[in-house]
Amino acid sequence: MEVVILGTADDVARLAADRIAALVRRRPDAVLGLATGSSPTGIYAELARRVAGGELEMSGVRGFALDEYVGIPLDHPESYASVIAREVVGPLRLSPDRVRVPDGRAADLEAAAEDYDRAVAAAGGIDLQLLGIGANGHIGFNEPTSSFASRTRIKTLAPRTRADNARFFASPDEVPTHCLTQGLGTILEARELLLVAQGEAKAEAVAAAVEGPLTSMCPASALQLHRRAAVVVDEAAASALRLAAYYRHTYALKPEWQRP
Ligand code: GLP
Repeated sequence: MEVVILGTADDVARLAADRIAALVRRRPDAVLGLATGSSPTGIYAELARRVAGGELEMSGVRGFALDEYVGIPLDHPESYASVIAREVVGPLRLSPDRVRVPDGRAADLEAAAEDYDRAVAAAGGIDLQLLGIGANGHIGFNEPTSSFASRTRIKTLAPRTRADNARFFASPDEVPTHCLTQGLGTILEARELLLVAQGEAKAEAVAAAVEGPLTSMCPASALQLHRRAAVVVDEAAASALRLAAYYRHTYALKPEWQRP
């Protein structure tokens, strides 16, 4: 695993945007795995700035969101369909018909989940999966004890996750109880994983994912199984890493990771 520690959240956003931009230049119809939550917002803002400035063209990109709440109206501002439309598709000028979000309103949720994995496979798989991390170590909505072999499916949100996400809703009771999420097995099939985290609240989860044992109690530890996984964090999110000095040293010796 590549662990990159940078000074600030803005540095994290810029480096992650560099990785995505380099992929899209190489492959204009790249398939991106899109994350929601607050962690990737700086990356999307940085990519949007480059698109608006004419440096980058993303209209050929295909996208698959990681997850969606179950039962939330599609036009609710906090449905991930709305968030992806507002924060990603619009600002990055993606083609809306090339971006998909799991259908949390489907009458048959299991069929919708299977359909989703089939659609990812039909697109040729995900080239780069962007990830945030929950304070409890979740990725997507794969809560602790999620199977490393799991596919896109219905999950019950952990109380901690509902409490953390209550800030996006008018009241804690409004936070949905269930979701559809890509499974850990689905996520591990992406050709490259890029997890970003900022702030001290994520420090323990980052340390557990990078340096802890491989355990479903920390679903993000599944990244240890991937050949091309990078964890890009700011100083605060890196503060519980025991081998921070080593990561800084190895990063300094990796020209392919330096900013252009
Ligand atoms: C959310 C999302 C995840 C996200 C995580 C962290 O609920 N389902 O994809 O990575 O929890 O959220 P944030 O980035 O807002 O801290």
